[in-house]
Amino acid sequence: MNQAAPLYEGKAKKVFATENPAEYVVQYKDDATAFNAQKRGQWAGKGATNNAITAHLYPLLEGAGIPTHFIERLSETEQRVKAVKIVPVEVIVRNLAAGSFSKRLGVDEGAALERPVVEYCYKSDALGDPLINTDTAVALGWASEADLARIRELALQVRDFLVPYFQQRGVTLVDFKLEFGKLPDGEIVLADEISPDTCRFWDMATGERLDKDRFRRDLGGEAEAYAEMLKRVTQEV
Ligand code: TMP
Ligand code: ASP
Repeated sequence: MNQAAPLYEGKAKKVFATENPAEYVVQYKDDATAFNAQKRGQWAGKGATNNAITAHLYPLLEGAGIPTHFIERLSETEQRVKAVKIVPVEVIVRNLAAGSFSKRLGVDEGAALERPVVEYCYKSDALGDPLINTDTAVALGWASEADLARIRELALQVRDFLVPYFQQRGVTLVDFKLEFGKLPDGEIVLADEISPDTCRFWDMATGERLDKDRFRRDLGGEAEAYAEMLKRVTQEV
């Protein structure tokens, strides 16, 4: 089935059609990019680790009432998902200031926020995922007002589940990026992945970064950090 050309190839995953039009197979790659692919790298095991972390978390999110595209993990690097039409809006949820938020607004990384911040970016590599607001998404026909309200509600529900989940495992969830898709019946579901590629994870004991910032910022030890996050995510508490 994976001999076929991918329907879509992103920077870290490939998406394949299957004989069932309602399902896709997603293959996680070992490639890493940052800063809109100006920086490229890869390490063995990255795809498998992100696949395993996502495959562990999505059923838990389903259990918490958040609909997702996830069906099952098929292999080390592949998972079966429901075919959705991706809403071209990246949704970032921030619990603490960090990354581009800190840079843009001159706020120290790690600074507390009075409430979580939800930001939206247009999913376009060519444009560098520019920051938008929900009016932009409606005006350009990417999503309806109702879809965006549902997306915001689900993003905050994901946050409410994940923050204590990681805290119990000794990790501060600083911020994360989600993508949503639409099923043929119009239902909005969580799509894409939740992994060290798409979240900032800080070790609560040491402050060590256990996410893609190790690669973005040339800190080294990315494979070890991702493996540590898989261990934490799957740890019984
Ligand atoms: P930022 O601070 O660079 O905007 O990133 C916020 C969060 O979103 C962080 O957890 C990393 C994640 N992210 C992605 O998953 N994909 C991206 O393309 C970018 C820029 C950030
Ligand atoms: N994934 C994005 C890129 O490849 C950015 C990032 O995660 O920093 O450029």
